[in-house]
Amino acid sequence: MAYIELNQVTKRFGSVVAVDRMNLQINQGECVAMLGPSGCGKTTTLRMVAGFEDLDDGEIRVGERIISSKAKRYYLPPEQRNFGMVFQAFAVWPHLSVYENVAFPLRIRKLPREEIHARTEEALKHTNLYKVAQDSPEGLSGGGKQRVALARALAIRPDVMLLDEPLSSLDPHFREEMRFEIKDLQRRFGFSILYVTHDQSEAMALSDRILVMQSGIVQQVGTPLEVYASPVNRFVFEFIGLSCFIETRLDQNGMRIGDTPYAWPENIAPPVELVLAGKGLLAARPTEIDFVADGGIRGTVMRKVYLGETIDYRVLVDGTEVRVQKTRRTPGPAIGDNCGLRFSRPHWYPVG
Ligand SMILES: Nc1ncnc2c1ncn2[C@@H]1O[C@H](COP(=O)(O)OP(=O)(O)OP(=O)(O)O)[C@@H](O)[C@H]1O
Ligand SMILES: [Mg+2]
Repeated sequence: MAYIELNQVTKRFGSVVAVDRMNLQINQGECVAMLGPSGCGKTTTLRMVAGFEDLDDGEIRVGERIISSKAKRYYLPPEQRNFGMVFQAFAVWPHLSVYENVAFPLRIRKLPREEIHARTEEALKHTNLYKVAQDSPEGLSGGGKQRVALARALAIRPDVMLLDEPLSSLDPHFREEMRFEIKDLQRRFGFSILYVTHDQSEAMALSDRILVMQSGIVQQVGTPLEVYASPVNRFVFEFIGLSCFIETRLDQNGMRIGDTPYAWPENIAPPVELVLAGKGLLAARPTEIDFVADGGIRGTVMRKVYLGETIDYRVLVDGTEVRVQKTRRTPGPAIGDNCGLRFSRPHWYPVG
């Protein structure tokens, strides 16, 4: 059974539909990452789940229990939802010690003193803050401050962690380390996570499933592999991982790229709807294109750049630049060479 369920959740700000009829189910102990460009509605979704924002339509449940419902005019206040939250900005109180920062929400909840102490100590230990418990968080690094925010969320023993780009202000080294720590805490405490990021590698590394949204509309929800290997549309294909696209004209016999006709190379035939429509977009990952001496789709190598282990090529195919990446161990063409491209895992999408 789904633990958190969003049904037809909608939020408008004036004429902007920030979140549009969103459906999502999150299981107990599952981590779902929300990925999408700036302004697509990620924070708004999180704020609705947290209870900071009401809904213009739809409802949100935790288990059997409704926590927000437009139709029923019901909102459980945020402090009564057992959710921990961590935001991008370092939300620590500088005038309180690290210990008091973590204990604060428990004091608000008026827990017994011993309980507050036990939970605070536990949260500090699990976030490696025990040694600095009596210090001001001001002296901590960005990573340290985010740890305080994480400990504070942890101390309430949340059912769900709502994390809004918690690592994006950290430098890359800390970011990677904190990913592991968050994952570790989740394993130990068993909470579910709704994790907002626009860093796709973070989403891939952390989550059981990824939700990709654009302009308030969910485009795809799936495992990291599903979203990467089988994107449902051009937007998802382009948003996750490197991509290149070639516009083609299609008919029964084959395709044309610019003015050049090609018979269907093996494994590349498009779906019949696109053939009937007369055009299609051929999509590929730069790592899933091979160079062939004869045949293939012909082009000219315009650029060749060493990126350490990989070589990044730009091949001009009838006016369209196609990006190809091969390991530096594979022999490849030189700049100016005419070459053939073979697509090992092509995808097809409608044009426009
Ligand atoms: N309080 C508000 N008043 C008016 N418009 C808002 C408000 N909050 C969000 N919006 C609008 O709703 C849309 C979604 O915003 P949201 O903050 O949820 O995006 P986001 O995906 O979190 O973006 P980012 O990656 O930049 O954080 C945007 O068009 C934004 O301008
Ligand atoms: Mg945001």
